Amino acid sequence: MINEYIKVEDLTVSYDLKPVLWDIDLKIPKGVLMAIIGPNGAGKSTLIKTMLGLLKPVSGEVIFNNQPYEKIQKQVSYVPQKGTVDWDFPVSVYDVVLMGRYGYAGWFKKITKKDKKIALESLEKVGMTPYKNRQISELSGGQQQRVFLARALAQEAEIYFMDEPFQGVDAKTEKAIVELLKDLKKQNKTVIVVHHDLETVPQYFDWVTLLNVKVVASGPINEVFTEENLSAAYSVNKIAAAREKKYVG
Ligand SMILES: Nc1ncnc2c1ncn2[C@@H]1O[C@H](COP(=O)(O)OP(=O)(O)OP(=O)(O)O)[C@@H](O)[C@H]1O
Ligand SMILES: [Mg+2]
Repeated sequence: MINEYIKVEDLTVSYDLKPVLWDIDLKIPKGVLMAIIGPNGAGKSTLIKTMLGLLKPVSGEVIFNNQPYEKIQKQVSYVPQKGTVDWDFPVSVYDVVLMGRYGYAGWFKKITKKDKKIALESLEKVGMTPYKNRQISELSGGQQQRVFLARALAQEAEIYFMDEPFQGVDAKTEKAIVELLKDLKKQNKTVIVVHHDLETVPQYFDWVTLLNVKVVASGPINEVFTEENLSAAYSVNKIAAAREKKYVG
């Protein structure tokens, strides 16, 4: 039996009145590296945001280690999808990473030597030490992505949510992120990653959820990452695309 570290039950989410996630049930064991895959608009980012309490569901609930999110919030880290956060204000790379420590220190508590040490180590892990004093807005997209990963690492969380961390990064950065994921896995952290490249799913992850408004399948890669499930997850979109073509034509 799977241990039920994270449980999503009967979750339905809608923007305006249109449901974008429908009756989602998930059981995620501790210590997995899980990919969430599915076509554009499948509801992947929405699922993560709802699990993080950033969106309120129409119905259903998410339970972390038998507790509601508010109770374990400090143990959860989130790297949002690229381009969804506006970093156009003057803050240095080091400050952004240090922000990962505020969860522990609280806004009014003094940042300790240990906080600073961990922030610097996290920067080192993603190879961004030389950019420490640079303004975050003066980095390339891939470099920013590395900084956000460093911030997540600095948080020393138990559960990591990452929304397409590989989006638009070069091969070297991709490799660095894969190493980070492996590192987190070794520490028995639970990592949930929205991922687009189907080819690398079995290589990078050991657990997978196929999503398309509903859960098509969820479980160990070798059981659920099948042709059949993949075509079920992606076919709805193909049908919709075909229909759109017809109307446009
Ligand atoms: N703020 C919003 N208001 C209204 N509809 C939204 C909003 N955000 C997303 N949607 C819609 O909800 C659906 C799911 O969006 P979501 O961003 O979760 O998809 P996704 O699977 O993350 O897609 P992608 O692969 O493109 O990132 C889409 O149809 C999208 O258009
Ligand atoms: Mg998304």
